[in-house]
Amino acid sequence: MDKFVIHGGKKLSGRVSVSGAKNSALVLMPATLLNGGLNEIENTPEVNDIYTMIKLLNQLGVESTFKNHKLVLDSSKITSQIAPYEHVKKMRASVYVLGPLIARFGFAKVSMPGGCAWGPRPINLHLEAMKKLGAEIKLEEGYIIANSKKLHGAKIHFDVSSVGATGNAMMAASLAKGTTLITNASMEPEILLLAESLKLMGAIISGVGTTTIEIEGVDNLEHFKINNISDRIEAGTLITAAAITKSKIELEYREQSNIQSELIKFEQSGVSFVSKNNLLEVNAVNLIPKSQDVTTSVFPGFPTDMQAQWIAYMSLADGTSTVTDSIYHDRFSHVPELNRLGANIEVINNSAVVKGVKELRGAKVMSTDLRASASLVLGGLAAVGTTEVLRIYHLDRGYQRIEEKLRSLGADIERITTSEY
Ligand code: EPU
Repeated sequence: MDKFVIHGGKKLSGRVSVSGAKNSALVLMPATLLNGGLNEIENTPEVNDIYTMIKLLNQLGVESTFKNHKLVLDSSKITSQIAPYEHVKKMRASVYVLGPLIARFGFAKVSMPGGCAWGPRPINLHLEAMKKLGAEIKLEEGYIIANSKKLHGAKIHFDVSSVGATGNAMMAASLAKGTTLITNASMEPEILLLAESLKLMGAIISGVGTTTIEIEGVDNLEHFKINNISDRIEAGTLITAAAITKSKIELEYREQSNIQSELIKFEQSGVSFVSKNNLLEVNAVNLIPKSQDVTTSVFPGFPTDMQAQWIAYMSLADGTSTVTDSIYHDRFSHVPELNRLGANIEVINNSAVVKGVKELRGAKVMSTDLRASASLVLGGLAAVGTTEVLRIYHLDRGYQRIEEKLRSLGADIERITTSEY
């Protein structure tokens, strides 16, 4: 088990590059199950969720190589359509294999993901979409058992906008007979990239980037090669690192249009940005952040995956802010831990009321999920004294060696193997 030891209060400076996006790679990878070919995904991050997905795909018979961020997946010899509990329990994104397996093989047995660290995360929308496309779904002994003849096009409306269910439905519909119309579809950048990869495979898709997506199914899909986008949440986390330490850094980050809502909030809090081509200069030197309310929402709104980091930042702002999570109402496990660092935050329903304090002070804290861990690291970077962040395996699921990036910017952060849990 590893922990981070952070001696806070160091100013950051220099340039750092944003890694490939975890969440887009996690949907592109199972999409390779659709085609039975040799696929390449460049700019794949070296994070544990990617290794978990590789293991799951290997279990299904996909052959893989992963070197220098290039992931090669050969789905020509699928030997199993069963996604076992041991993989799915580690990562909910495993449910992405459901649509491709049903569409290509007419059968899938996928473990139900169960609860998650911040409460229920149902998959009813995924299952409803598969049913609409013609799959027969049974739930037995903790598993989803899906059977179908050839899937057929359908009208699918999601009551709640869901990245995962939109992705699953798009993948399945690409091999269905006829036309599928998905309404209230997700517009997240990860879905745009999935659509691009499906088009490279030969799928016929329109409306991507709006809430209505139309897909004309085809009989076979070809292999594809794609360059993954960079991680918008890692970009936001690094910007927060600069803001919370009152520093000036440069980010090498291509898709700045994917973080506009965050940039606006940071600007309103007093951070200034200069954008030149793929470089984003973040300037928070001598900043006393102005408190800013935030409500998370679907893209292009402020992402729930940046809520914990924003709370850490606002804990040192001038005044009180209210941070509401409209996507995941219980995603606040970082709050008591930030309070251990001296923050003054109270959770009321799905909002955190953050009263800015003058300083945070180092303490031992532990994380319970990926973004909560990130917020504690940010708190530790700003705190006076030493912060130890335990259970950073959560962080390793989604951030590629974040401590090395932060250290390269001048942070005093070290990874230590410990028996503490
Ligand atoms: N929802 C349902 N039923 C469903 C599916 C979703 O009610 O069948 C609800 C959820 O409970 C939630 C809302 O719909 O309230 C949106 O969830 P969504 O399905 O969009 O989330 P997801 O696809 O499971 C992805 C990211 C999450 C990110 C959310 C929201 C991946 C692998 N995961 O999850 O990322 O928080 O979208 O943007 O893409 C993270 O990276 O830390 C992370 C948790």
